Amino acid sequence: MAELLVSAPAKINLHLEVLGLRPDGFHELAMVMQTLDLADQLSIRPTADGAISLTCDRDDLPTDGSNLVVKAGELLRARVGLPELGASIHLRKRIPIGAGLAGGSSNGAAALVGLNHLWGCGFSSAQLHAMAAELGSDMPFCLEGGTQLCFGRGERLEPAGLGAAPALGVLLIKHPDSSVSTPWAYGRCRELRGDFYLQGEEEFEQRRQALRSGPLLAALRGEAPLPPLRNDLQPVVEPELASVREGLALLRQAEGALAVAMSGSGPSLFALFAEPAGAEAAHRQLSAQLEAAGFEAWCCRCTGSGVSLG
Ligand code: C5P
Repeated sequence: MAELLVSAPAKINLHLEVLGLRPDGFHELAMVMQTLDLADQLSIRPTADGAISLTCDRDDLPTDGSNLVVKAGELLRARVGLPELGASIHLRKRIPIGAGLAGGSSNGAAALVGLNHLWGCGFSSAQLHAMAAELGSDMPFCLEGGTQLCFGRGERLEPAGLGAAPALGVLLIKHPDSSVSTPWAYGRCRELRGDFYLQGEEEFEQRRQALRSGPLLAALRGEAPLPPLRNDLQPVVEPELASVREGLALLRQAEGALAVAMSGSGPSLFALFAEPAGAEAAHRQLSAQLEAAGFEAWCCRCTGSGVSLG
């Protein structure tokens, strides 16, 4: 059978608010996530030998059973109950690794969609969503994509209802030598801010409602100027990583930048512009300084959907 190509796009957090701690040990979050046009690609060939094998064009990415692509395949196969199902998967990596851009989660979500199709499992999108939530907090968003409010661990999605993806330009940067462990960032957040966490569903719901009706969503609907962006993990990570401090300082110099923030648990950083041409102009303006400081940079657009076939 011919190979199937699946696109696995990156996300940024336009908002990441840590509300409190849940009984399951995860953090209760209120986020706005946005898909970008920066994507990895999976090529999947089905086999009947019961082996799910993964190769990657980056040799610093584990391709064993710890990779969410393999975990997704194993979960899907267990649910469908056909142990002879196999697949040979190749991953072309474009999204930086360990960056807070959900690259690994998006790869796993792409494997769920691609293998569900190739193996003819016939799982509905609601069933895929439930499996994605078992595998990782960001994975359901990666399936749906676009602009979404994400609550709970991050797996409870509410479409922002914008009609179309925001026309913003995004200048994304990451230092290739730095990466952040997500469990470390949340653990450190708890150490620093745990005493101030909100308590209970009523307080959480007030913050969710504030986000739904607040200035960020109004700005994304084009009704108000963009407010400063909030990422509660940024003040946790920034003191620890010089590259984050340096990168934020560089992006704040960009002409026309409407807002600057870290994505997820970092260390990738981004600046938003009124239109894509603004991000490209800022990239030209800052290219010598970004290069001198060793940053990689991408000019991106916001898109309206998550993983997709073809
Ligand atoms: O769900 P995922 O495997 O992506 O989460 C990775 C880690 O990040 C968790 O083990 C936990 O330490 C932390 N986390 C959290 N609260 C969340 C999401 C992630 O504490 N809502």
